[in-house]
Amino acid sequence: MPDEQSIERVAVVGGGLMGSGIAEVCARADLDVVLVEQDSEAAAAAKLALESSIEEAVQRAKLSPERAEAALGRVVASDDLADVEGCNAVIEAVVENEDVKREVFAELDSRLPDAKFLATNTSSVPITKIAAATRRPESVLGLHFFNPAPVMPLVEVVNSIVTAPETLEAGREFVTGRLGKDTIDSQDRPGFVVNALLVPFLLSAIRMYESGFASRESIDRGMILGCAHPMGPLALSDLIGLDTLVAVAESLYEQSRDPAAVVPPIVNRMVESKQLGRKSGRGFYDYD
Ligand code: CAA
Ligand code: NAD
Repeated sequence: MPDEQSIERVAVVGGGLMGSGIAEVCARADLDVVLVEQDSEAAAAAKLALESSIEEAVQRAKLSPERAEAALGRVVASDDLADVEGCNAVIEAVVENEDVKREVFAELDSRLPDAKFLATNTSSVPITKIAAATRRPESVLGLHFFNPAPVMPLVEVVNSIVTAPETLEAGREFVTGRLGKDTIDSQDRPGFVVNALLVPFLLSAIRMYESGFASRESIDRGMILGCAHPMGPLALSDLIGLDTLVAVAESLYEQSRDPAAVVPPIVNRMVESKQLGRKSGRGFYDYD
């Protein structure tokens, strides 16, 4: 019997690359999940992405067909934020845009008065700015999952100057005890721990490519074969999504004025022409 305080039903708001993956992780941990998108088409696409990822996990013998079916049955996709009511916790994964996130959090605040925590998966927006959109900033923390969420073991637990210790503890316990992920702690600083290191590296690889210094293959193969990275920085940028990478870099630059976070013009041109990486079928590489 679940105790009264335990988290059994979670809301995941935003069902793109990360939201659909986070919803999958939660469903595979036997949680009921309400996955909310901005319209019915996006909600259907989010459910489809989750289904095909679960199918891939079965193909790769990471999940039994019985558990896969049970997990799928626990996820309800919706286009109405009102459907989060009754959830014990929320993880927001909408587009990396401060205004959109603040709007979502203001509504989550009024719809989920009893939630144990309101978490954001933001890569770079300060947690304090998102928390300030609510009337209970102490309940807001960062739970930063990595892409692809069903595969990557890490979640950064981000503590802001307004996050209550019990919120932090509830978030950490949920991620480790319930989802079975590993955590590291980060303060609410630009890029937290991982993106503060990773994003300047990715931008630097893109500058190298843009300047004609080396081909995309040489750069990527160099880091795979020379440094044992699972994929090269240009392929990884395509995996992250170039629109998201630009949004993260701009946010880091705005907060730090670090020249290493300046977006190389080629990426802006690619985003303007809808070459967003894997999710649009074309980025530094072409995808089927
Ligand atoms: N479900 C379950 N398991 C899966 C899976 C799925 N859908 N897809 C892959 N896997 C498992 C595989 O079974 C394999 O597991 P084992 O090692 O136990 O056999 C493992 O994942 C790796 O798979 P493969 O070796 O077949 O290689 P792949 O090409 O499928 O791997 C990858 C893809 C996991 C993405 C790998 O290339 C990788 O780790 N890339 C780097 C990813 C990374 O750096 N992510 C961080 C991005 S930055 C970020 O997220 C933060 C931000 O804010 C932007
Ligand atoms: P994405 O573009 O794949 O998905 C964003 C989704 O948000 C879209 O499907 C969009 O329809 C939806 N959305 C926009 N406004 C909404 C609203 N008001 N209500 C509900 N849904 C809404 O982006 P993503 O890669 O999934 O990134 C989501 C978040 O996760 C961002 O904050 C990003 O920085 C973070 N993140 C991304 C990665 C990555 O590698 N892509 C890794 C870790 C964290």
